Amino acid sequence: MNSSAIGSAPTRIEGPAKLRGVAPYAMEHPQPDPLYGFVIQSTIIRGRIREIDTSVAERMDGVITVLTHHNAPRLAVDDDNELFVLQNAEIAFRGQPIGAVVATSPEVACEAAAQVRVTYDEQPAEVTPGADFYNPEQVSGGFPADTAIGDVDAAMAIAPVTIDHTYTTAMVHNNPMEPHATVAHWSDGTLTLFDSTQGPHVVRAAIAPLFGLAPEQVRVIAPFVGGGFGSKGEPHANIVVTAMAAKLCDGRPVKLPLTRQQLFSLAGYRTPTSQRIRLGAHHDGTLTAIAHDAVAPTSTVKEFAEQTAVVTRVMYSSANRSTSHRFAALDVPVSSWMRAPGHCPGMYAAETAMDELAVALGMDPIALRVHNEPEVDPESGRPFSTRGLVECLRTGAERFGWAERDPAPRSRREGRWLIGSGVAAATYPADTSGGNSARVRYTGDRYEVAIDAMDIGTGTWTSLGQIAADALGVDPDRIELRIGDSDLPEGTVAGGSSGMASWGSAVVAAARAFRDRFGPEPADGAEITVEAPEYPGRENFSTHAFGAHFVEARVNVDTAEIRVPRVVSVFGAGRIINPRLARSQFVGAVTMGLSMALLEQSEFDPRLGAVVNHDLAGYHIPVNADIGDIDVSWIDENDPHLNPMGSKGIGEIGIVGSAAAVGNAIYHATGVRVRHVPVRLDDLL
Ligand code: MOS
Repeated sequence: MNSSAIGSAPTRIEGPAKLRGVAPYAMEHPQPDPLYGFVIQSTIIRGRIREIDTSVAERMDGVITVLTHHNAPRLAVDDDNELFVLQNAEIAFRGQPIGAVVATSPEVACEAAAQVRVTYDEQPAEVTPGADFYNPEQVSGGFPADTAIGDVDAAMAIAPVTIDHTYTTAMVHNNPMEPHATVAHWSDGTLTLFDSTQGPHVVRAAIAPLFGLAPEQVRVIAPFVGGGFGSKGEPHANIVVTAMAAKLCDGRPVKLPLTRQQLFSLAGYRTPTSQRIRLGAHHDGTLTAIAHDAVAPTSTVKEFAEQTAVVTRVMYSSANRSTSHRFAALDVPVSSWMRAPGHCPGMYAAETAMDELAVALGMDPIALRVHNEPEVDPESGRPFSTRGLVECLRTGAERFGWAERDPAPRSRREGRWLIGSGVAAATYPADTSGGNSARVRYTGDRYEVAIDAMDIGTGTWTSLGQIAADALGVDPDRIELRIGDSDLPEGTVAGGSSGMASWGSAVVAAARAFRDRFGPEPADGAEITVEAPEYPGRENFSTHAFGAHFVEARVNVDTAEIRVPRVVSVFGAGRIINPRLARSQFVGAVTMGLSMALLEQSEFDPRLGAVVNHDLAGYHIPVNADIGDIDVSWIDENDPHLNPMGSKGIGEIGIVGSAAAVGNAIYHATGVRVRHVPVRLDDLL
C-alpha cells in the first residue's frame, strides 16, 4: 500500500467548520417549523402508574400534545425492554421515561412537563446488591463469564508470597460534551432521524422494527457528534420517545434533547465493581496463581454484564488462573458501555494488585511484569499478533526517568509535598467487525468514498480519508469522504476501538477493487461497492494493543491534596494513521483515567434510587488546572496480522490501567494503599 498519507499528521479537515459553528450536532440541523420535546420521568423506583393527569399541561399556550402510555404509538416488538417505553404503566427504575411533552418551544415543553401530575402504586425495590448473585453464561463482548486453568486454590496454599485483596470502583457516568439528542421527522411513512449517535446503522437496526418498518424506511444522519464514550453506542429510550412524539405531530419535525441531568438515568453508565484479586508467587517473582473474581450490579430492565475480569486472561503467565463474573440484578437504570467497559475497572484492580505483589516481593514493579511476560496468549494458547508490553514498559521507564526512583514509600519530599511514582500496564483488544462495506465513485476528478462510519470527535473525517488516499494512491485532497448516514454502505459502530480498523478495511478493499476494475484513469461516474473480506489468518492470533503508564503524584502532607503533575504513557497500538489525532485520543483517554482515579463518582442515593450529583457542578471531571504534563508516545509497530493498514484501535487503551498507575504513585508517595477509586484526600489523612 502506498503510504504517503497514512502516518502524516494533517489537522482535522472539519476543524474550520467547527470553529465557525457550521458543523451541526443533532439539535442544530435546521428544520422547517420544528417542535420541541421534553421527557417526563418516573419519580418512584418501582411500581405502577395509577393516574397520569395531563390536563393542566395540555391547556398551556404552545403545548401541542402530551405523550403518555395511554396515547403513545404501539411498538411492534418487545425484545429490548430499555427501548420498549410508554407501552404500559409499569415502572422499573427511577427516571424511567413515562411520557413527553411536545410544544412550540423548548421552554414551554420543559415547563409543561413539570405540570403533569402522576400518582403511583409503589412496590418494594432493590437498588443495592444483597446476597443474590447470578452467573451469566457470557459477559458483554461475548466473553465467557468464567474461565479456569490449573488449581488456583492449591497454588495459593503453597505459594511463598501471596496477595489477596478486594478492590472497588465507583459508579461513573459518561458525560459527552453534546448531550444525547434526536430530531425525528415522519414523511410518507418513512422516518428520518438526526441523532447524536456512535452508529447510524445501529440506531436504524433497532428503531425500524420497533415501528414496524423495513430498515430502508428509516434514515439516521449524524455527520458530527460531540463525544459519546460508549453512551451513544447503543440506542437509548430517548430516540424511541422522539420518534413516537413526531408520529403524533402530523409530519412536523420534533427535536428532543436530553438535559445533562437526564443523562444520569437514561444514557447508560459504568457500574460500580467489586473485585477480589489473588496472586501467588515464588520469591523470584514467578507468578504461580492469578485469580480475578468480579461482582457488579446490572439492571432488571436489561442485562449489561460488564466484562471486568477478562483483562486477567491475557496479561501474565501463570500455571494456575481463574476468572469469574457475578451479577446482582437491581431496580436501577440500564448500565452500558463507558470507555473500555470491563477492561478499565478490571485493569485498575489487576494492576494495583501487581504493584502490591511487587512491594511484597521487594521487586521492581517493571521487572515483575517483564518476568511474567507470556510467550503466547495464556488462555487461548495462540501467539500474539504483536505484543509490545515489554517495549512500552522499557521505553516509558526511560522517558519517565524511572531508574532514579528509590522504591521505598515516603522516600521523597519537597517542602510540604510527598512525591511518588507509579507504573501500570494497559491492554485492550484489537478487533474488527464484519459487515462493513464501502463505495468508491469517481466524479469530476475526485474520488467520493462513502461508508456509514462515524466521527464522534475522534477525527474520522480526516484519518479515514488518509486511508482512502493511500489505498487509491492519490492526494488526500482528491478524496471526498461521505460518512455518518445510514443510507451509505454499512459501517460498524464507533466503539470497541474497532471503528477505524473495520471501516478502513472496507475502504481499502473498495479502493483496490476500484483500481482493479477501472485502472488508473477511470471514466467519470465509475463506481464500485465492496464488502471488506475477512483478513486472512487473523483468527490464528491473539490480537491486542498494549501500553504502560508512568505517573508522578504529589500529596500535600498537611491537607492530603493530590496532584498529578506528570504522566508518561507509551502504547503498542499498531500503525498509527494520524499521529496528531492519535496523540489527542491518547491524551484524552489518560485524562479520563486520571479523572477516574481522583474525581469521578456518581453518588447514588439508595433511598431515591437515583444519582444526586447529576450535573457538572456536583459530578467532577478535570479542568485544565487538574492536568499537568501528559507525555504520550508509541512504539514503532505495524501489525501484519490484523488488517490492511497494520493498525490496532486507539480509542480506549489510554484509559486502561491509568487509574492504577495513579494509585500506585500515591502509595509510593505516602505509604498508604487505597483499594478503591476515586482516591479522595480523606483516604490519606
Ligand atoms: Mo466505546 S465504550 O466501545 O464507545
